[in-house]
Amino acid sequence: MTQTIGIGVIGMGWMGLVHSRAYRSIEDRFPQSGLQPRLVICADDVEARAQQGRCQIGFKQSTTQWQRVIDNPDVQIVNITTPNVFHLPMVAAAVAAGKHVFCEKPVGCSPQETAAIAATARAAGVFSGVGYNYRWAPLVQYAKQLISDGKLGQITHYRGRFLVGYGSHPDSVLSWRFQKEIAGTGALGDLMSHVVDMAHMLAGPIESITSQQNTYIPTRPQATPGEGTHFSVDASGPRGTVTNEDYVSALARFASGAQGIFEVCRIVNGPRCEMAFELNATKGALKWNFERMNEIEIALFDDATEPHPGNAVVIAGPEHPGYQHFYPGPGNSMSYEDLKTLEMFHFLQHITKNIPGAPGLEEALQVAEVLAAMMRSWKSGSRQDVKPIPLKL
Ligand SMILES: NC(=O)c1ccc[n+]([C@@H]2O[C@H](COP(=O)([O-])OP(=O)(O)OC[C@H]3O[C@@H](n4cnc5c(N)ncnc54)[C@H](O)[C@@H]3O)[C@@H](O)[C@H]2O)c1
Repeated sequence: MTQTIGIGVIGMGWMGLVHSRAYRSIEDRFPQSGLQPRLVICADDVEARAQQGRCQIGFKQSTTQWQRVIDNPDVQIVNITTPNVFHLPMVAAAVAAGKHVFCEKPVGCSPQETAAIAATARAAGVFSGVGYNYRWAPLVQYAKQLISDGKLGQITHYRGRFLVGYGSHPDSVLSWRFQKEIAGTGALGDLMSHVVDMAHMLAGPIESITSQQNTYIPTRPQATPGEGTHFSVDASGPRGTVTNEDYVSALARFASGAQGIFEVCRIVNGPRCEMAFELNATKGALKWNFERMNEIEIALFDDATEPHPGNAVVIAGPEHPGYQHFYPGPGNSMSYEDLKTLEMFHFLQHITKNIPGAPGLEEALQVAEVLAAMMRSWKSGSRQDVKPIPLKL
């Protein structure tokens, strides 16, 4: 049975384009599913970007007024890929109109906003999705299976990190990501949100945490509005102040008793996009890095007292969840955008089959509770329990 679903995308920058292409790929990659996403309308306040959505990507209509996406009767899913400051008003308007929402991480400018957004969507009873795309790498899903099947035994310690260099040049422009009034937090929301979500999925809830943060490059050249990306380097503009953090690290204790270390940074010079985890368990170990997302290092043994050879590299293939939709044989490398296609497929399936699924706004709320504890630790200098966020802005 075919099911047509109307998609409206708000924010046609990097992620807006990626999400739109992902929706467009679903019929092609999942022909048996019957899912037929239709690109109805896209919005961007920069007119040229909105028009690009219509002329190049294939939306029927484009607009500079985001409310028109929500008002369109053919739109069932509102996909929000704007800077963080707009997440709250856009999700609130979309769910008030009874639309399902896909919102990019970090979901708002602060943990408090994430909590408000999650509460609004929960009250409206709509489906939600959140862009924790690294979950969908076939070898990450395989790692999750190994853990839940008990093959690794008990997790004893977990290391998560996300190290990127989009801000490493002192003249990397002052894009919205560096401005508290548009992004809210810096590396915490941008990068740590992914790291905590991955840790939750693989190692379970976090009970308490201590954290520190720093901003290493205090001023940057102003960006030209509507031009470039957060990777742009352009020293020509006057310099403005960076108002959120470049770096965050944390020591965590999981509810299971496992220990964790997390580190994120947007100004590193070596790694290019090192969203990675390593975990140690009583019957094995895992090591994965998005820069080499088609391989994972795995050690599995039954008797920890016997000598074992340590990690062995496993290359992705059709036996790993999701991979078979892209290639028939092993060793053909998948890409970031393929993870987005898998992400949108799972989101649409939850809606059309009417079954709850993750990750959505409830998972984003769990991440936000950990980020809130980290922020309290920055102020107090002490370990903080992870607890519910009071619902007031
Ligand atoms: N999951 C991931 O891996 C990932 C990666 C990158 C970004 N993100 C998230 O996606 C979101 C967007 O990031 P990006 O890198 O695409 O940013 P971007 O700057 O490339 O794109 C944002 C777009 O929103 C448009 N916009 C701004 N205000 C608007 C408004 N009021 N109405 C309509 N459009 C408006 C901008 O003109 C721009 O085209 C952020 O929340 C970010 O955290 C997630």
